[in-house]
Amino acid sequence: MNPLSRRDFLGAAAGLGAGAFWITRPGGFRVGPGSPVREYRLTARPADWDIGGGPTAPAWTYNGTVPGPELRVREGETLRVILHNELPEPTTIHWHGVPVPFPMDGVPDLTQPAVPPGGTFTYQFVARAPGTYWYHTHVGYQLDRGLYGAIIVEPSHEMLKYDQEHTLVFDDWLFDPDHPRPNPNASGMMGMEGIMGGGMMGGGMSPGKPDSSTKPQHKPPRVEPLYDGLIVNGRGDRSATELRVRRGDRLRLRLINAGSSLPLLIQVAGHEMQVTHADGQPIDPGKTRAVTLGMGERWDVLIEAQNPGLWPLTATAPGGARVTTLIRYDGVRSTRPEPGPREADGREETLRYDELAGATPSSVPVPDRVYDLQLSGGMPDPARWTINHRVHPDTEPILVRTGQRVRLRLSNMSMMPHPMHLHGHFLQLVSFNGRRLSTPVRKDTVMFGHMEGGILDVVADNPGARWLFHCHNLYHHMAGMATELRYG
Ligand code: C2O
Ligand code: CU
Repeated sequence: MNPLSRRDFLGAAAGLGAGAFWITRPGGFRVGPGSPVREYRLTARPADWDIGGGPTAPAWTYNGTVPGPELRVREGETLRVILHNELPEPTTIHWHGVPVPFPMDGVPDLTQPAVPPGGTFTYQFVARAPGTYWYHTHVGYQLDRGLYGAIIVEPSHEMLKYDQEHTLVFDDWLFDPDHPRPNPNASGMMGMEGIMGGGMMGGGMSPGKPDSSTKPQHKPPRVEPLYDGLIVNGRGDRSATELRVRRGDRLRLRLINAGSSLPLLIQVAGHEMQVTHADGQPIDPGKTRAVTLGMGERWDVLIEAQNPGLWPLTATAPGGARVTTLIRYDGVRSTRPEPGPREADGREETLRYDELAGATPSSVPVPDRVYDLQLSGGMPDPARWTINHRVHPDTEPILVRTGQRVRLRLSNMSMMPHPMHLHGHFLQLVSFNGRRLSTPVRKDTVMFGHMEGGILDVVADNPGARWLFHCHNLYHHMAGMATELRYG
């Protein structure tokens, strides 16, 4: 996945000296007077994508693949990404979780005009915070067509020891994104079990009109679709990815949920996961057999390979759809994996937010301002999702001045889960469901299930006009569940 191995990169960098010139292949770099520049080119373009079983989908991709290329940059380096748009609609790229300067944030009409078809835009920023992040389009419903990829900011000194590293990017997949079938249970009234399509089930409801102009149309907002299944690194369950390990290996996995609507339960059979990072930020490591991965969230986990066999690592969506990644030990020839863990056990064992602890002890100062944000919606209108009963852009903004600490007290009064994501800043998770974390944890996406609540503090350390705070269910976001952090 890595366009240049670290060795190539360092070797070539040494050879470059102070002279500034281009290497044109993707992942090339240039050394300037400031921090070294790592450069990638991403072309957003339609491409038929085969997940390995089932129909080929008319996907929208970066460089022709789902996910797009994994971008890697070293802490302190400058990342430059030249986006060329060959889609029939305007597009942008958002660097999910990366605290970038405001003009690089990729929100159409808020931080930049969207890049028109045929246009080009150069994103450039210094990668300061190491971690596992992802990038994706921030225009309309484009995310649900495959426009996403991983971005890894490598620390200047790696603290973890491991023998192998893999990024697993999960997604909920539509074979026919031009004609999504609305989910009759988009409000959650039938319980979360109702939200998977279960294959190519015929839907009686008529799909929305396909967009005809070059401007993406958001009105009226769409209802969350029924998905055809889950994929991991672009492959469906019938073409499971295999990770080859030797007994004694330590694996580092970077788990990313790039899906538009479905939260996932991640379980691994025969092994435990040691969770080391939440949304890329180090935590006090904890062992678990299952993690929940909300849309937009990431967990980094270590797995000790001490149990030879062929073991499934599964992602399960509400309603039971699965995608499997196999862990195959050297010398194991079997074609039949060991049985996967039971989903019900996973739902019990899954790591809870209030069990987390930040890696560096820190106190929680008194906030300068407090906002209460109630998440509601879905009833009676499954395409209306609100914050304090209002729909973006009519929601009340969160006002801050540089250096202030603002406290967000969230509560979810709706039936569906809402992974709330803040642009440009870390959220400090102070407490969840009334239980205070021993040490606050830095995250950028925190998911609230039905009747759940929590306290998120934000330190206003990245001045910019208007930063989005929104639900990372794409359909909820587009239907209004968003507000803005505004510096005044
Ligand atoms: Cu990953 Cu505003 O989003
Ligand atoms: Cu939501």
